[in-house]
Amino acid sequence: MNIWPVPQVKIGENAISEIPAALDALGADKVMVVTDAGIIKAGIYSKIEKILKDAGKEIILIDEVKPDPSMQLVDSIAEKARHSGAQAVIGLGGGSSIDSAKVAAALVGNGGSIKDYLGVGILPKPGLPILAIPTTAGTGSEVTYLSILSDLENETKKGFGSAFIMPKYAFLDPALTVGLPPHITAPTGMDALCHCVEAYTSANATDFSDALAVKAISLISQNIRTAFNSGSDIKARENMLLGSLMAGIAFANAGVTAVHAFAYPLGGMFHVPHGMANSLMLPVIIKFNAPAMKDRFGHVAELMTGRSGADWQDCIAEVEKLCSDVKLPRNLKEIDIPESAIKPMSVSVMDQTRLLVNNPREVTQQDAFDIYTEAWSR
Ligand SMILES: NC(=O)c1ccc[n+]([C@@H]2O[C@H](COP(=O)([O-])OP(=O)(O)OC[C@H]3O[C@@H](n4cnc5c(N)ncnc54)[C@H](O)[C@@H]3O)[C@@H](O)[C@H]2O)c1
Ligand SMILES: [Fe+2]
Repeated sequence: MNIWPVPQVKIGENAISEIPAALDALGADKVMVVTDAGIIKAGIYSKIEKILKDAGKEIILIDEVKPDPSMQLVDSIAEKARHSGAQAVIGLGGGSSIDSAKVAAALVGNGGSIKDYLGVGILPKPGLPILAIPTTAGTGSEVTYLSILSDLENETKKGFGSAFIMPKYAFLDPALTVGLPPHITAPTGMDALCHCVEAYTSANATDFSDALAVKAISLISQNIRTAFNSGSDIKARENMLLGSLMAGIAFANAGVTAVHAFAYPLGGMFHVPHGMANSLMLPVIIKFNAPAMKDRFGHVAELMTGRSGADWQDCIAEVEKLCSDVKLPRNLKEIDIPESAIKPMSVSVMDQTRLLVNNPREVTQQDAFDIYTEAWSR
């Protein structure tokens, strides 16, 4: 069994006050902060800026990250990082900002473009140390060796994996997530739920990933509605951060499955937000995968409902109820995906071999077509 290392994690209210000590430990006085306009607007960056300035740290701010960052964007951030003299990189925001920071930091130690290093374990040398401050709960990017980037030419998303992009430190401060609006809380929370459900039902699940996934499923399904309906509930926000962190470690080790694989063409071709794309695929993939793992999907249903004896069909019903409670769409038609896209998406998804290899059931080209057809009009 392989177990990926985990960064030093500070979790709880005011966790961000410990950032300067971490930078001191890394010997970093000049730091690049990679974030996006939404984080500046929400007043989150100004909190971090104050902490860094009060500690005498020099800041280079890059605030140009866009959702689902492209390879071109991260190349351009890396070029700025190379010439900045920064000694560490902070990823501040959702998965888009953290993923961009991780790639930019790594490319500082290696020449060329991210396109030269796609795949897992290809990057030859380490770059700058990375600190992650997630403001969504979320992608788990603060504890994964992965960054997910948009491939604009091929209208899909590609994974880049390297031990060198595992953050050294992560700061999970629920106060940074209380202002997350419900329409972002819902899909990002569903992304985290998918991570742990997929890790638990992955063909490569281990005892280690199971323990984390099981707890994460409980934490997320018991707190997502409160976080959605009462955003300022700090305990629910902290539990969501803890759940997404544990789900992140679980899937970093077990992998995600067909849910994420089928979500990528929706993100790449139609810019459907990552968590929403996953939530649209989850019930359809549970139905497809259940014959291979009835007991595990039953256990997921027990964890989600708190009812012993629940089975895989209850699992689908509970996921559908949750999506409806947090106002996520039910099918692809509802979000204006044309029916004519089913065919090209079902061809594109077959390239996601990195993920499909983890799926408990083999997915054929015909299966892919049938799965998208069901997701379109269910
Ligand atoms: N590296 C990994 O392991 C991994 C895992 C899953 C997903 N991802 C990737 O992460 C990306 C998605 O990340 P995401 O879902 O966290 O969303 P995101 O980073 O794209 O952010 C979505 C929006 O939310 C805003 N936002 C974030 N936090 C906020 C806050 N606290 N208050 C107000 N606004 C806030 C941002 O400004 C942005 O406009 C995708 O590219 C996805 O593929 C990566
Ligand atoms: Fe995800």
